Amino acid sequence: MALTPEQRRELIRKANEARRHAYAPYSGYAVGAALLTADGRIFSGVNVENASYPNGVCAERVAIYKAVSEGARDFQAIAVVTENGGSPCGFCRQVMAEFNPQMIVLIANAQEELIMEVSLETLLPYVFVYPYK
Ligand code: THU
Repeated sequence: MALTPEQRRELIRKANEARRHAYAPYSGYAVGAALLTADGRIFSGVNVENASYPNGVCAERVAIYKAVSEGARDFQAIAVVTENGGSPCGFCRQVMAEFNPQMIVLIANAQEELIMEVSLETLLPYVFVYPYK
């Protein structure tokens, strides 16, 4: 289902607000995400880096893992805000697709300008699906 202009604005604002809590002392690149469920709940996430670099996790996955751990799985949209309107990484695209390959992805910059609104299917065509029972 398409987003209303209010939903779009709120998701981008919440993702940008969340950026304040990003833990990114190594890259200095704060990322915020806000995930909308079908029943109207919003879960935020930020990137959380680590001195052992590969242990760091992206904002999008933090938002999804928070939501799933609280019983939410039906995701309609996610907003991702960075200083320059960067696009979600491949790991995060795959994790989003696990729950809804048609999820709407909003990409915005720190001025809360919408850079791109796109279906996850377009960002991640021919997604891997589990081949076994
Ligand atoms: N990062 C995200 O949080 N989301 C993405 O989709 C791409 C990258 C984070 C990981 C790392 O903390 C920082 O941005 C620089 O790569």
